Amino acid sequence: MASVTHSMVTFFVLICFIGIVSSSSVIPSATTFVSSNLQNQLSNIFYNAKCPQALPIIKAYITTAVLNDRRLGASLLRLHFHDCFVQGCDASVLLKDTPTFKGEQNALPNANSLRGFDIIDRVKAILETTCPNVFSCADILAVAARDSVVALGGPTWIVSLGRRDSTTADFKAANSDLPSPFLDLAALISAFKKKGFSADEMVALSGAHTIGKARCFLFRNRIYNESNIEPNYAKTLQQFVPCPKSGGDNNLAPFDITTSTFFDNAYYKNLLNKKGLVHSDQQLYNGGSTDYKVVAYANNPLLFRLDFASAMIKMGNLSPLTGNKGQIRKYCSRVN
Ligand code: HEM
Ligand SMILES: *[C@@H]1O[C@H](CO)[C@@H](O)[C@H](O)[C@H]1NC(C)=O
Repeated sequence: MASVTHSMVTFFVLICFIGIVSSSSVIPSATTFVSSNLQNQLSNIFYNAKCPQALPIIKAYITTAVLNDRRLGASLLRLHFHDCFVQGCDASVLLKDTPTFKGEQNALPNANSLRGFDIIDRVKAILETTCPNVFSCADILAVAARDSVVALGGPTWIVSLGRRDSTTADFKAANSDLPSPFLDLAALISAFKKKGFSADEMVALSGAHTIGKARCFLFRNRIYNESNIEPNYAKTLQQFVPCPKSGGDNNLAPFDITTSTFFDNAYYKNLLNKKGLVHSDQQLYNGGSTDYKVVAYANNPLLFRLDFASAMIKMGNLSPLTGNKGQIRKYCSRVN
């Protein structure tokens, strides 16, 4: 057991190292390092003095959990996305509803869909024992997303830290700002533009759908009614998920039918073959302005790794609470 753990750690350290030296676009975040002692700004060394053990603790815990249940890695990546797109990366997505508080968890894109809350709570509990009142839930989400992607074989990046936790959530914004799988390309582009992302960055971030799963009712219309889908692929989903014309709403299919538990560029190769799972996936390669980017990522896995890492850094920087704004929650699911 001990030797397995050791070789696992060596393996991941190696992967991280390769990730860092190979990703020139990730290096520029060293500029963040230089200005790290400015207030109200994220920093790469934020917890170095107050909780130096935190990052290795999170990495060990998340890596073990994800290798034990690989879909969890997908769920944690999505949690960070759904946090950041609604009032910034402030852990607002983690706040549970109470009789007097309406949070984001029951908004349409989140309800019966988001997973991984219990793992975040467990990591938080460990950090509260190690360094009480120091490490924010928003930072746990950002680090857990990165460590999950790395555990599944994806690229690494440096997560800037110092986000604080919100005391509020925004149910309405969760419904309006998280993209629906029924959107066309133009609407996808504008949903991401609203958050400061280019169409190219939207295509790169969508590569997250190389891992994880979706429910039948979200792709039913696509597999029965759409023409830009490979017929045998549609038939497989209809019969073997199964996703019947009615019923089986919650039956799950992988976004990437080839390698859904590995973070690779297969998502884009599938799109070239008209094997996008939900409508919005195939929109990225459907004769429109983003086709060329899908081709580029399908042909160049390294380019995808670099661009995905850069876009994740950008997503993680969406309007964080810093300085004395917000709080460090004691429990991620509720305000102090
Ligand atoms: C481009 C617009 C996007 C749309 C329309 C979209 C839509 C969806 C939908 C409908 C699901 C399945 C939900 C369910 O079955 O309950 C899903 C799952 C997922 N999404 Fe997205 N998504 C988008 C972008 C992203 C981005 C930017 C990321 C992360 C960077 C992401 C990461 C994921 C992951 C990893 C899953 C699988 C989660 C799991 O298996 O638990 N998505 N997405
Ligand atoms: C196919 O499209 C028609 C017309 O929009 C719709 O009424 C029907 O419910 C769709 N079928 C499925 C299985 O989604």
